[in-house]
Amino acid sequence: IPAGTDLLAEIDRLRKERNAVILAHYYQKPEIQDLADFVGDSLDLSKKAADTDADVIAFCGVRFMAETAKILSPEKVVVLPDMDAGCSLEDSCPPDQFAKFRAEHPDHIALTYINCSIGVKALSDIIVTSSSAEKILSQIPADQKIIFGPDKHLGGYLARKTGRDMLLWPGVCIVHEAFSETELLKLKAKHPQAPVAAHPECPAYILDHADYVGSTSGILKFAEEMDGNTLIVATEPHIIHQMNKAKPDVDFIGAPGADGNCNCNICPYMALNTLEKLYVALRDLEPRIEIAEDVRLKAKTSLDRMLAMAS
Ligand code: 13P
Ligand code: SF4
Repeated sequence: IPAGTDLLAEIDRLRKERNAVILAHYYQKPEIQDLADFVGDSLDLSKKAADTDADVIAFCGVRFMAETAKILSPEKVVVLPDMDAGCSLEDSCPPDQFAKFRAEHPDHIALTYINCSIGVKALSDIIVTSSSAEKILSQIPADQKIIFGPDKHLGGYLARKTGRDMLLWPGVCIVHEAFSETELLKLKAKHPQAPVAAHPECPAYILDHADYVGSTSGILKFAEEMDGNTLIVATEPHIIHQMNKAKPDVDFIGAPGADGNCNCNICPYMALNTLEKLYVALRDLEPRIEIAEDVRLKAKTSLDRMLAMAS
């Protein structure tokens, strides 16, 4: 990148020249959220990717999200600013081990969190996101046995909330796993009036202290509609950028990790995307998501079920 390049102006120029749409997750850096055409949770972003008439999707999120966009819109060029932007949940669930797990439980269907590889999506029956999981689960007959993976905390939360007994894959999100119950209780003691809003990827010992549990878009809506002047936010802290814009007078405090602050809960994968890398991705149309057609079609079946059941 030549010295002195005006990245914002260049990204804007390339977005028009390429007929590109820039999609961003709420966990992206503020400067990326601010220039995106659309910011949303995993379900919103999947819907946008399926519907857009742009020729290029520049996906500012993690790899499984950009792959979902490519699965749903194969004719489009999908670029991810940093191809190393993975996810600990995806890493916890290699497709060959998941296939073995499925084979050991042939009478179960696989309800699978979208935070997984294409290989695991292709082995699944229905995909869910945190904002669609309860609605989708309620449409599955009560006597149907279910495998839920790869997030054991989201699976455990859904099981407690709905009373459905599910076989859980033992994966975790390293970001939400890092919240400390002791530090959260200390923070609550300092702000006794402040509600806690938490993402269901948090362990049960964090969710037990939450006044609201939901997806990133659900947490944001809760923040926008709340009456008080302080909110403790138990999810990746970059979402607070949108909260500050919506409610500048409210004090949004990120829930702490064991060191007493919320910086250890920044998603290291999401953080790999930068303005510089987004500029290069739009300029070179690389790194690009490519998927073998047979795997794409299998993965699309489980994603299409989600989109139909979530609507
Ligand atoms: P949602 O935005 O769908 O709530 O998911 C959060 C997440 O972990 C993304 O990695
Ligand atoms: Fe994966 Fe957790 Fe990062 Fe979301 S926050 S991308 S679940 S590691």
